Amino acid sequence: MTPLEKLVEFLRIPSVSADPAHTPDVRRAAEWVAAELDVLPHVELIEAPGRHPLVYAESLQAPGQPTLLLYGHYDVQPPDPLDLWNSPPFEPVIKNDNIYARGACDDKGQTLILITALQQLLARDGRLPCNIKVLIEGEEESGGEHIEAFVPAHTEKLAADAAVICDTEMFAPGLPALCVGLRGIVYGEIHVHGPAQDLHSGVYGGVAPNPMMAMAEILTALKNRDGHITIPGFYDAVRPPTPEEARAWASLPFDEEHYCQTEVGSPALTGEPGFSVFDRTWARPTFEVHGIRGGFIGEGSKTVIPAVAVAKVSFRLVPDQDPAVAVDQIKAAVAAATPKGVTAEFKLLHAAPPSSVDPSHPLIAKAAAALTESFGRETVYIRSGGSIPIVGLFRQTLGIPSILMGFGLPDDGLHSPNEKFHLPNFHKGIETVQTFLKSL
Ligand code: BES
Ligand code: ZN
Repeated sequence: MTPLEKLVEFLRIPSVSADPAHTPDVRRAAEWVAAELDVLPHVELIEAPGRHPLVYAESLQAPGQPTLLLYGHYDVQPPDPLDLWNSPPFEPVIKNDNIYARGACDDKGQTLILITALQQLLARDGRLPCNIKVLIEGEEESGGEHIEAFVPAHTEKLAADAAVICDTEMFAPGLPALCVGLRGIVYGEIHVHGPAQDLHSGVYGGVAPNPMMAMAEILTALKNRDGHITIPGFYDAVRPPTPEEARAWASLPFDEEHYCQTEVGSPALTGEPGFSVFDRTWARPTFEVHGIRGGFIGEGSKTVIPAVAVAKVSFRLVPDQDPAVAVDQIKAAVAAATPKGVTAEFKLLHAAPPSSVDPSHPLIAKAAAALTESFGRETVYIRSGGSIPIVGLFRQTLGIPSILMGFGLPDDGLHSPNEKFHLPNFHKGIETVQTFLKSL
């Protein structure tokens, strides 16, 4: 089978880690990855009760050479809303050099880049040019509890000089990028309880507290109309980009108008005045609401004061914010913003620290050289607003940097309907990883 045929096979497995109904599919994806890694001397599926398996493999047959820990994830985000897909999310379609499917870019296509690079090196040379450990997880999109417990408990097994991760984006088509900063995250739910049960809004309206209204008050109390988070102390640890970084960002080829129209697709951009788009997406924290549940949302009308409202929310964190500190600040701010007559609670679902990579690390220069060779253009150093929770953990527990070599494109639609992966990037990625490993 060609790498592309393998990608199609991988994408057909609906490994949605957040949805318990897909648990057997998530396992099937883990087994699929393990079978592909079977070309290495050692492969294992690591299990834990109630968790999705980790796939671990290693080849330690290059004495004196560096050891790299390759990381990826075989799970995907839920495909909803299904009616917005032009073709079913788990039936890959190839059109104009792109493959469309949930996980095409994030992160099955990019995980397969790493695996295929190893397979091709082994097939061609019979050996790998350096020592390789591979750790592929199935919970990246839904909290990552398994890997979070596994890594600190197996620091010797996982010891390496650096991690290599293909799970980020290039800055623009044809313009290779190394990502040297990711935001962290605090994800949780705000639960607001009011009356003991749903009430007639005519009979009780005027005296009964409304949890939906209270939720709106709480949410809007956490961030002002300028996009500035009003939680006391929230920005205390925020480290501005260095002057060199700010200069480099200012010289990136970027048209804000075009970005607003084509990528964001909204009439205007929002956010803190005085901060650039790169500042706002890479170097400033955020507060976002993902969904609000409660009351009546069916067709037609129902006059009710709901008893409960729940909002799913997240905060992205930047260096040097600490998720534990942020959680305490959020809890205090929710309590302070709670109006009379209701109770409100912030329930943490998961958190991950922000991370940054020292751009002067020698392996970063080698990675940049490999990218530049494959794409024929100078590699740019960027950050990303997304989170890859394991990057911070690799730094904290293994003491290693992560080389974030991403092959996604800004319009690949990660987490959106019609997610795609640009196939020339799939092939160039495979080539780049091989060039990089051989250059060590
Ligand atoms: N691959 C993404 C993160 C990403 C996207 C990095 C684009 C750089 C550019 C990753 O799989 C992801 O989406 N992570 C989640 C983590 C969260 C659920 C803890 C995210 O950022 O929302
Ligand atoms: Zn990903």
